[in-house]
Amino acid sequence: MKAAYINQIGTPEVVIYGDLPTPKPSRRQCLIKVAAVDVNPIDVYVRSGAIPAKLTFPFILGRDLAGMVVEASASVKDFKVGDRVWATSQGADGRPGTFAEFAAVDHRWLHPIPEGVSDDDAVALSLVGVTAQLGLVRNANLKAGEILFVNGGSGGVGSCVVQMAKILGARVVTTAGTDEKVAACRDLGADLAINYKTHDVVAAIKGFAPEGVNVWWETLREPDFDRTVALLATRGRMIIMAGRDARPPFPVGPFYVKDCSLHGLAMFNASAREQRTAANAINRWLAEGKLRARIDRVLPLAQAAEAHRLQEESTVHKSGALAGKIVLKP
Ligand SMILES: NC(=O)c1ccc[n+]([C@@H]2O[C@H](COP(=O)([O-])OP(=O)(O)OC[C@H]3O[C@@H](n4cnc5c(N)ncnc54)[C@H](OP(=O)(O)O)[C@@H]3O)[C@@H](O)[C@H]2O)c1
Repeated sequence: MKAAYINQIGTPEVVIYGDLPTPKPSRRQCLIKVAAVDVNPIDVYVRSGAIPAKLTFPFILGRDLAGMVVEASASVKDFKVGDRVWATSQGADGRPGTFAEFAAVDHRWLHPIPEGVSDDDAVALSLVGVTAQLGLVRNANLKAGEILFVNGGSGGVGSCVVQMAKILGARVVTTAGTDEKVAACRDLGADLAINYKTHDVVAAIKGFAPEGVNVWWETLREPDFDRTVALLATRGRMIIMAGRDARPPFPVGPFYVKDCSLHGLAMFNASAREQRTAANAINRWLAEGKLRARIDRVLPLAQAAEAHRLQEESTVHKSGALAGKIVLKP
């Protein structure tokens, strides 16, 4: 089968598109004919070596897939040949990646694709959607009527946070880096979207939430706790989920006297069972037409190296080049 893989960590040029053996599904696995995969910032960090990961070479890249079951081991009862499925959290903890024509996936990580939902949309919402659902519901316990702020509402995670927070009944404030992306955030449902390059974000948040923000979702790798804690309401919650090297100062006094709480979130720690709960909610919202994928472009899998270059430029070097996910087609 064709696959996009690496034999060493390094720049995007180390990504090889070539032939690897088609996997055989073992006990509890289904063989999936992959229809679409997407790129996440973590793929870039793993490929570049920015985060240490145990890799066995050749290492197939990619965490997410959407496709069809073409073979199922006898022990699998919940999926059958012909079922359309999506998955995330592959390419980690010994599970092979998804950037290939076929992938063998344990059935516990598979979720059905609701009728009428495309492979591209399903895959573009997988990792980022599970992250957003877990953070909003399990970690932040967001309630209807509360005010949520998400820094970076046009990004992969941010665009899911905006939409899901609205579905959960919150009032949503967010930021984006261009007027087009600001408009896109409003289109996703944000009550207030602020261009962080041209507007005073702090003043805008204070105007919208004079009593403070109930939930602050930070997608940036350099959280500014002084700014955030000052804008949090009493019993406000903050989600942090990026920036492994970040060591910013933390305003202890202002934080504890407001009974605030801080939640670290790494979706890859969530068990298959926890992810199933998130996936069920995502599927329900997709089927109801309440959740939309934000896709910047669709490329052939053969262009995986270029996709990595673009994602790195946009997320790591903050070019803002992307306005949504890159979907790749094997
Ligand atoms: N812990 C986890 O479980 C988990 C899961 C998924 C992702 N992540 C991490 O979360 C981060 C975001 O992921 P992603 O997939 O959403 O990335 P992304 O699609 O590249 O989004 C990045 C966002 O940051 C915004 N941004 C950049 N500079 C900004 C600034 N100064 N102020 C406000 N917003 C700014 C961008 O807005 P513009 O484009 O409008 O400038 C964009 O919306 C990455 O570091 C990723 O590795 C962690």
